Amino acid sequence: MSVKIKTAHEIELMREAGRILALVHENLAKEIKPGMSTLDIDRLGEEMIRSYGCIPSFKNYCGYPASICVSVNEEVVHGIPNANRILQEGDIVSLDAGVIYKGYHSDAARTVGVGEISEEAKLLIERTRMSFFEGMKKATAGNHLFDISNNIAAYAEKFGYGVVRDLVGHGIGSQLHEEPEIPNFRKRTRGLKLRAGMTLAVEPMINMGTHEVLWLDDEWTVVSEDLSLSAHYENTILITDGKPELLTLTESEKAAGALELF
Ligand code: MF3
Ligand code: CO
Repeated sequence: MSVKIKTAHEIELMREAGRILALVHENLAKEIKPGMSTLDIDRLGEEMIRSYGCIPSFKNYCGYPASICVSVNEEVVHGIPNANRILQEGDIVSLDAGVIYKGYHSDAARTVGVGEISEEAKLLIERTRMSFFEGMKKATAGNHLFDISNNIAAYAEKFGYGVVRDLVGHGIGSQLHEEPEIPNFRKRTRGLKLRAGMTLAVEPMINMGTHEVLWLDDEWTVVSEDLSLSAHYENTILITDGKPELLTLTESEKAAGALELF
């Protein structure tokens, strides 16, 4: 097992990949409206990624046919954009995207509401986001990987939510998926020791009901088994000797105080 420690140059490239992906998320979230199709979102997102001189890393990854994973309501991740899937007021939609800048990857996801959404949906989205930041409290060199996992799970489970176990976060760098795997659920061991220069994609996927998931016949779309709402929040981060650097945080999140949450 080998987790790569990135060089200063690699980190510079990943910062830029992250900055661009944050801009894509910021701009894409503003476009989400009732009446648009999930394919419209993919088209817009791919155009934005390419306009910044980046490559959408998901496109054709293991045969995935689009640039943005668009997952609506009970869909957890890897929803396939479709011209016939029209967003309705009250839906929640998870947008997961990755870009490659000069050979280096960033990966991030946000769940957003379509028009007005229910109070319980708002809470699920907010608490999924907060579970990530609870994880960040442990994401420092010298701590262990599963300290992050345990903090995420402990926070989300307080609300009776189901923390998805069948999909995990991952190392990231010159490859979209590198070692290590990063569970969002509780582990009995502490896992590997975190070191400055590790770059990780931490991505809690939280269901309102059961943690169990199913794969649809398209072989990509993952849904909650009980069809309860699901939210996803992901950033690419850099481990340092102090607080982690969140490479894909948007400017509006920073302005709203996200850096003080961990
Ligand atoms: N963000 C996803 C992940 O972290 C990547 C989607 S896989 C793809 O694993 F095939 F859809 F690209
Ligand atoms: Co990821």
